[in-house]
Amino acid sequence: MKFFIDTASLAQIKEAQDLGILDGVTTNPSLMAKEGITGTDRVMKHYVDICNIVDGDVSAEVIATEYDAMVREGEDLAALHPNITVKLPMTRNGVKAIKYFADKGIKTNCTLVFSAGQALLAAKAGATYVSPFIGRLDDVSTDGVQLIEQIRTIYDNYGYNTQILAASVRHPMHIIQCAEIGADVATCPLSAIVALFDHPLTAIGLEKFLADHKKAAQQQVASK
Ligand code: G3P
Repeated sequence: MKFFIDTASLAQIKEAQDLGILDGVTTNPSLMAKEGITGTDRVMKHYVDICNIVDGDVSAEVIATEYDAMVREGEDLAALHPNITVKLPMTRNGVKAIKYFADKGIKTNCTLVFSAGQALLAAKAGATYVSPFIGRLDDVSTDGVQLIEQIRTIYDNYGYNTQILAASVRHPMHIIQCAEIGADVATCPLSAIVALFDHPLTAIGLEKFLADHKKAAQQQVASK
């Protein structure tokens, strides 16, 4: 399973990249706004900055909602860097634009997916990635992880190449559950990725190994 980081923070992207396990980045307008990145020029430059840190797909979301404007904006984004993936919302115009970009060989990510039917449409249009928002489904008492399972079954039934990109991941258990089901990608906050490193028995075990090593070294010195 590929690990993407779900942020527009260059510092967090660098930190995840330094871990050696990062495969890509997803952003959205809210995440860009959180970093104070506004205005077309700054937004475009920010995407290039991200692409220069990570050697993997970087989702850049269109703001336009009308088909022609979506296509224009997506083309501008795709021209920034070969790793840019044009992120489009699950709307009629968004799906139509996904088909347009798929026909041109431009990578797309269909975002704001909350049902298996929407995921089926995204795959039929030729989306590179589909982004089911599992955390936001959990927030409304619906099992987000179950949606990943449903989409996996449907895509496997028909051999769709669209990659399931589990989004709105909130915690390490989401990551594990997505991996068990066979999601292709999980895009996660840095906190959920780094939480995977921790286990109390690892910490206790390492402490004991080092203590035993030190004791043995001290005994050796004392016996000389
Ligand atoms: O990038 C889309 C998605 O991951 C958003 O997550 O936490 O705002 O529901 P969240």
